[in-house]
Amino acid sequence: MSWTDEQFASYRKDGYLLVRGLLSGHEVSALNGEVPNLLQGDEKADRMHREREKSGAVRQVYSADRYSAPFRTVTRHPGILQPVRALRGNDVYVWHSKINVKDAFEGAVWLWHQDYGYWMWDGVEPKLISVMVLLDRATVNNGCLMVVAGSHKWGRQEHYADTVTTSYKQWCLDLPTLKQRVNEEDIRHITGEPGDVLFFDCNLLHGSGHNMSPLPRKTFIIAFNDIANKPRPVENPRPDWVVSREFEAVS
Ligand code: SIN
Ligand code: MN
Repeated sequence: MSWTDEQFASYRKDGYLLVRGLLSGHEVSALNGEVPNLLQGDEKADRMHREREKSGAVRQVYSADRYSAPFRTVTRHPGILQPVRALRGNDVYVWHSKINVKDAFEGAVWLWHQDYGYWMWDGVEPKLISVMVLLDRATVNNGCLMVVAGSHKWGRQEHYADTVTTSYKQWCLDLPTLKQRVNEEDIRHITGEPGDVLFFDCNLLHGSGHNMSPLPRKTFIIAFNDIANKPRPVENPRPDWVVSREFEAVS
């Protein structure tokens, strides 16, 4: 379950690591079996926050780990938790979790951003690690995640709020910064199979294109925060579904 020295070195160099086949077919089926209900639920009744595409299709569902046993179990998976805790050198808790849906032909772009570009305003240091579990096959056509290898070493860049590209306000890098910093050869497509798991640094630049394919591209993203990095008080604290106040170390 533990990573090799080469895997840790690769993560530190590139800012991400893809571990193939981390979840079994059985574990992935258990997750996917829950998804239709989680997508259809009634927000007022189940308190799971949902974002929608302009078309009305669900774009994201937050907090599945709080309301679904298989999703809760995966946030405690030793193959996920061991490397995350080793990378942090500390216990971690779930900062938030989300199913990113990207339906066939409807799922829309995620503009280039660093997660810490916005999380900084939540009163934390860049000590968070995201883990993306592929629930469907991810391809270039269905809008797999794209990352810029090594960009975590830039440190946090200024972000602005894009409110026109999708239904969703996205914090992203501006054009001059992208033109200056991103080299074509550093862009990597994270394609893979259900059960493959991507680990990435909160300062890694990432985004993804529109789903132009008949294949859906669902993923489950768990963001873990270092237990010693609880948010300081900020002027406009965001809701608990995105900045969790459940500071329970996961083990
Ligand atoms: C994200 O950055 O949280 C989402 C990216 C994606 O789902 O492609
Ligand atoms: Mn992100």
